[in-house]
Amino acid sequence: MQLSTNHLLGIKDLTIGDIQLILSTAKQFKEVLQRPIKKVPSLRDTTIVNLFFENSTRTRISFELAEKRLSADVLNFTASGSSVSKGETLLDTVNNILSMKIDMVVMRHSATGAPHFLAKHIPVSIVNAGDGINEHPTQALLDAFSILENHGTLEGTKVTIVGDILHSRVAMSNMYLLKKAGAEVMVAGPPTLIPKHIQQAFDVRVEYNLKKALEWCDVANILRIQLERQNQVLFSSLREYSMSYGVNKKLLDSLNKKITILHPGPINRGVELSSDAADSDQSIILQQVENGVAVRMAVLFLLSNRSATLN
Ligand code: CP
Repeated sequence: MQLSTNHLLGIKDLTIGDIQLILSTAKQFKEVLQRPIKKVPSLRDTTIVNLFFENSTRTRISFELAEKRLSADVLNFTASGSSVSKGETLLDTVNNILSMKIDMVVMRHSATGAPHFLAKHIPVSIVNAGDGINEHPTQALLDAFSILENHGTLEGTKVTIVGDILHSRVAMSNMYLLKKAGAEVMVAGPPTLIPKHIQQAFDVRVEYNLKKALEWCDVANILRIQLERQNQVLFSSLREYSMSYGVNKKLLDSLNKKITILHPGPINRGVELSSDAADSDQSIILQQVENGVAVRMAVLFLLSNRSATLN
């Protein structure tokens, strides 16, 4: 079986068949990662460059590890310290790197649509590792994989995404994926951090009361306030945000059921999530990070098969 696309630019472009194929392939790679020898030769003789024009800890390390587990040759590029600071354009930077015979590009960029632009101009597969406030497809895939591991199904599972929905590419990719997979989705947070027409645009529920939002769901995906993307005051202070929308263990214990807590990282402990909730047995945050490697192995492996048909 093959993906319907040569690139992974966003969940928006994937079919439910693509999503199921990636998740089932990731399950096989997760088994590989439990073995004493965690490496397979699938991408031997494939060279992948990781282009990170924006900061990252989890995604960058996870992609690099996934590539190495697949036996690919790996190059890492970060914008700081590169000739980007001398005025080189994105396309020139990438074309120069590609002239060294690169087979696949993984890219994170602060500009929405940057990987979509590149996909129109370069002849190799591109994986979007997060573009501006648009999408972070591999995060949504690893979130879905982790929900599946803990709840057995996405269909009918109730997921609340809490926090800064307005600036979150994780929220966007999660909403596309969860709706395609038949989950029920709610977004929760202060009205200023929830886009006005989201209910109609994504067919999701909207709730401004955190406790009601958590009472409703099976899974809560807690998001950080993305201060780096905000150019206006959207709430009075982090302390006040935390008092109204911070998830802590006392709140979790007061609910009528035990819900599962996800967070894409990095966590701002004590703001959107307290330490006692982040480190509780309801949290699967580190399981998400572990699953990220298997999911990214699946994406790279499946796209490399597509590359063979690229002309
Ligand atoms: N979840 C996520 O994208 O984390 P990083 O910014 O550390 O890659």
